Amino acid sequence: MTSPRQALPIAVLISGRGSNLQAIIDAVARGELAADIRLVLSNRAGAQGLERARAAGIATAVIESAGHGDRAAYDRALRECLDASGARLVVLAGFMRVLSPEFVRHYQGRLINIHPSLLPAFTGLHTHRRALAEGVAEHGASVHFVTEELDGGPVILRARVPVMPGDDEQALADRVHRVEHRILPLAIGWFAAGRLGQHDGQAVLDGRPLAGPVDLADRPAAGGGDAGPGRAG
Ligand code: GAR
Repeated sequence: MTSPRQALPIAVLISGRGSNLQAIIDAVARGELAADIRLVLSNRAGAQGLERARAAGIATAVIESAGHGDRAAYDRALRECLDASGARLVVLAGFMRVLSPEFVRHYQGRLINIHPSLLPAFTGLHTHRRALAEGVAEHGASVHFVTEELDGGPVILRARVPVMPGDDEQALADRVHRVEHRILPLAIGWFAAGRLGQHDGQAVLDGRPLAGPVDLADRPAAGGGDAGPGRAG
């Protein structure tokens, strides 16, 4: 375990349930993730994730669209709040707003997102519904650096799940969520350890550009600890 002094200051942006935020909070509490969650910020006052943050004693902020003229004004307010928190990594964990190019450029290389599909497949919304409609055998989740292209930044880490006969949208979403809760803290941990960065439009892990995303086989979390690229399936 890393001492609190070395913990990476992060901010987590949410819009809803906050189960990925909870996975980060839990990983920190277990001593598996050397992060200091300085701020949880939501664009919706009613987001359940805000309650999770408060219960963990984490500072929260709400910036709703109303009152901010346009996207640029909203993103400026967001940026002021995030920068004041001292966060060195900004984590989008179910933040359902498109961010302006200016915002994305400001945080380039220290802005990551969890997306509910095996990118580059199914960018955008309703990924589970579309995966079922297309009849794919495998689905999953990805963590990627955010760039100006929506869901198009370099992918760091993915986890696959099977699509089962009889799956409906909720069953598939639940299965994907379980793997999201593993890969997001894992990627944050790599960043916190100085192993992960973004250079020349590519994700770099342990000093080497990733030719493709690390794929984490869907296996029980127990003892999963730090699965480096050499151990990922
Ligand atoms: C997650 O499934 C995440 O991948 C998705 O929102 C959900 C948030 O769940 N994000 C996106 O769709 C971003 N385009 P949570 O609030 O329980 O963490």
